[in-house]
Amino acid sequence: RCQSTSTDEKKIKSRNVLDNASNLLTNFLSGGSIGSMPVAEGAVSDLFGKPLFFSLYDWFIEHGSVYKLAFGPKAFVVVSDPIVARYILRENAFSYDKGVLADILEPIMGKGLIPADLDTWKQRRRVIAPGFHTLYLEAMVRMFGNCSERSVSKLEKLLEAKHLQGGHEIELDLEAEFSNLALDIIGLGVFNYDFGSVTKESPVIKAVYGTLFEAEHRSTFYIPYWKFPPARWLVPRQRKFAKDLKIINDCLDGLIKNAKETREETDVEKLQQRDYSNLKDASLLRFLVDMRGVDVDDRQLRDDLMTMLIAGHETTAAVLTWAVFLLAQHPDKMKKAQAEIDAVVSQGAITLDSLKKLEYVRLIISESLRLYPQPPLLIRRSLKPDTLPGGYNGDKDGHKIPAGTDIFISVYNLHRSPYFWDNPNEFEPERFLVQKDNNGIEGWAGFDPSRSLGALYPNEVVSDFAFLPFGGGPRRCVGDQFALMESTIALAMLLQKFDVELKGSPDSVELVTGATIHTKNGLFCKLKKRSNIH
Ligand code: HEM
Repeated sequence: RCQSTSTDEKKIKSRNVLDNASNLLTNFLSGGSIGSMPVAEGAVSDLFGKPLFFSLYDWFIEHGSVYKLAFGPKAFVVVSDPIVARYILRENAFSYDKGVLADILEPIMGKGLIPADLDTWKQRRRVIAPGFHTLYLEAMVRMFGNCSERSVSKLEKLLEAKHLQGGHEIELDLEAEFSNLALDIIGLGVFNYDFGSVTKESPVIKAVYGTLFEAEHRSTFYIPYWKFPPARWLVPRQRKFAKDLKIINDCLDGLIKNAKETREETDVEKLQQRDYSNLKDASLLRFLVDMRGVDVDDRQLRDDLMTMLIAGHETTAAVLTWAVFLLAQHPDKMKKAQAEIDAVVSQGAITLDSLKKLEYVRLIISESLRLYPQPPLLIRRSLKPDTLPGGYNGDKDGHKIPAGTDIFISVYNLHRSPYFWDNPNEFEPERFLVQKDNNGIEGWAGFDPSRSLGALYPNEVVSDFAFLPFGGGPRRCVGDQFALMESTIALAMLLQKFDVELKGSPDSVELVTGATIHTKNGLFCKLKKRSNIH
């Protein structure tokens, strides 16, 4: 017995030595200098079996709202706390850049706003943001209506054809329809180019989808082999990517040349007051080219347009996809939305005024963005050593991080945090209804009403970074109002005409992510003409 005890002790001792050595090694390999925060050990299978943001949620519940995720030699800090998110995105924003994201997107977007270095970003943001002014957005509302009308009449024609064959419903992939619609809208809004993808296919359209596909591949493939120059010739998909990029670039170069040849240099204030109801070309490109005193080279303009094309296309299509996915599982909420649409919109187009009255439809869009944020993670890298503030969850002291720390701000975790939301996983657009608080001040329930600022849609300012569908701080989305109005109008016009059901069970709709959360094989739905229009 004695003998055996001493053997056990030896075993324990040697195991401790081994454990310590292995901990030291793991710490060293996994960016051990990142402060003393809880560590989640990721397995490689976590990267492939299911979307990463699902695992990040489980670890958030297990380890808290700031933890270190170690994947072998690589470590990320995962943030799911509003105070820490606000600090990184707003309060100390310029101590962080886009890190891994810029590495992935730079070959596609060049020096466009999303991956741009700080100097370029400052110059271009100052010029691009004023382009989304009130009269431009009003003109866009008309264009959103026209494009949505085109999609709706395509579906009506398909239904009529079905009726002739004795059927009363059509089955189709609504995600693909939304993707086409969003592409047509972004093309017209940003550079006055009609892709016409709702009704046809073209080499440019195929090239846009090819490029998006590659961007997604790069954001989910963890070894950046494409940086190795021979890969660009040796790997067929990289050759195709280069070809796709050239097709789009040639198209954009042609549009830029055309815009520059017809340039009418004008002060920015005057540009913002042009009579948009009579403008043939209301696009952002026109605004950027005509702006007095800004002589921008073609390459930068092309990067700007490409960035907005990619940033504004898939994101909006995804919001519409998930809004329909959620509504189809809640027919009562679909009916409530339809009743609102019938009351507010007669058969004519949706105007800015009617959009303001479509409160419930707007909140459906916001709630869909809460449950399926696009993108689900915001990516940053610290440019210098920093100390993250303590968060809400008793994590008072904060954490030191060295320069070069890669950070994922999990918007998905924030939006589904059990610490901030009642029934966080339930689809309840009503949670955002404007209500009066005890002092009679109107605001979104649960948030500080004084922050409501009369906005049409809840945002990160109202919610103090618990709800940040468009990020926050200086790198916040420039196209948020464009996107919100576009998706509200498209959804309202679809629901005005059709009842929508999922073709299979909700569980059969598998999720995948690259930059956005989308379905693996499409959102197949059954569409019927509405019979009970009020
Ligand atoms: C940035 C979301 C539509 C242009 C962002 C960011 C988010 C976002 C979260 C911040 C990224 C970060 O901090 O790392 C969305 C969603 C959209 C949408 C959910 C649709 C529902 C659009 C549209 C446009 C656009 C329609 C253009 C017309 C941009 C640009 C940036 C950006 C240029 C970079 C801003 C900068 O760094 O200064 N978007 N976006 N987005 N978005 Fe959007």
